[in-house]
Amino acid sequence: MNFATNYLGLKLRNPIIVGASPFCDDIEVALQLQDAGAAAMVMRSFFSEQFASPSPALVADSAEGVASSRAVYPFSADQYLRQITHLKQALSIPVIASLNGCYPGSWTSFATQLESAGADAIELNAYQVVASPGVAADQVETGMLETLREIVSAVRIPVSVKISPFHTSVAQLAVALELSGSAGIVVFNRFYQPDMDIHELEVQPQLRLSDRSELLLRLRWLAILSPQLRGSLSASGGIQTADDIVKALLTGAHTVQLVSVLLRHGPRLVTELLIGLQHWMERHGYQEPAQFRGLLNVSRYRDPAAFERANYIHILQSWRM
Ligand SMILES: Cc1cc2nc3c(=O)[nH]c(=O)nc-3n(C[C@H](O)[C@H](O)[C@H](O)COP(=O)(O)O)c2cc1C
Repeated sequence: MNFATNYLGLKLRNPIIVGASPFCDDIEVALQLQDAGAAAMVMRSFFSEQFASPSPALVADSAEGVASSRAVYPFSADQYLRQITHLKQALSIPVIASLNGCYPGSWTSFATQLESAGADAIELNAYQVVASPGVAADQVETGMLETLREIVSAVRIPVSVKISPFHTSVAQLAVALELSGSAGIVVFNRFYQPDMDIHELEVQPQLRLSDRSELLLRLRWLAILSPQLRGSLSASGGIQTADDIVKALLTGAHTVQLVSVLLRHGPRLVTELLIGLQHWMERHGYQEPAQFRGLLNVSRYRDPAAFERANYIHILQSWRM
């Protein structure tokens, strides 16, 4: 069985990538993931705010005062670069660095250093919650596109973009990113939503690991984007089982990125997931993922938007009391 997959122009031995997370902080853990079968690793993000010292605004409102940069960010720029070099020395699979920022600026030149340190690719994460009524949708997207262009023009390695599902026209944005040099789109960023403590009357920041319900949104958009993009697609969010991986590939993903499920079950799960994928492929007579990738995307429908709307109407109208 041949699992080989092309992602961002990189040749991967299979479609399973370890998504951006602390897994790459520890070389031993990264090695365990590689030994278990992971085909590539995305490092935790390096944030544009880390260049705007001394203190990150994101914690400035906490009652305790401003946390130190060191407490918030485990890696300084130098440490991040050194970690890339260490990972590259220890691993044989590609290492993807992650840059996190939404607006262009001098910080994007850090991409050059990521490349020099040995990163095989860069994943740009444009996470932001736009809270100002003075910022229009096109300004948000223009910021993303310009950020991407700055990074792409600074490096020769491929750059992908991890986007949010909450853009007005996701397909248009994905195509615009591709035209601006993105080699792939990661579908999607996950938004961390604080809860409210109704006893202490406080906002409670929290990080909940994902569950499978989050996958459906990814599948819908993979199915829509896959016929419209030339570059790579990676599914991130809610993937827990081999069946989930099959679904992501069927809707058009080249790779899947796993974090929550590996935090819950540990590196060895990768091997089990690959065995599950192999069994499914054997049952269906496939020798390689390329034979079924995108089989369930929307290319069968002349007007995907009309198809989605027809489905929506049908589903609502079929409910009977
Ligand atoms: C502990 C933790 C740390 C993460 N750190 C990053 C990060 O630094 N950059 C990033 O782009 N995504 C980060 N993510 C998001 C993951 O890469 C991924 O997109 C998200 O968890 C959805 O995938 P999952 O359902 O497999 O967990 C992090 C997630 C977790 C749980």
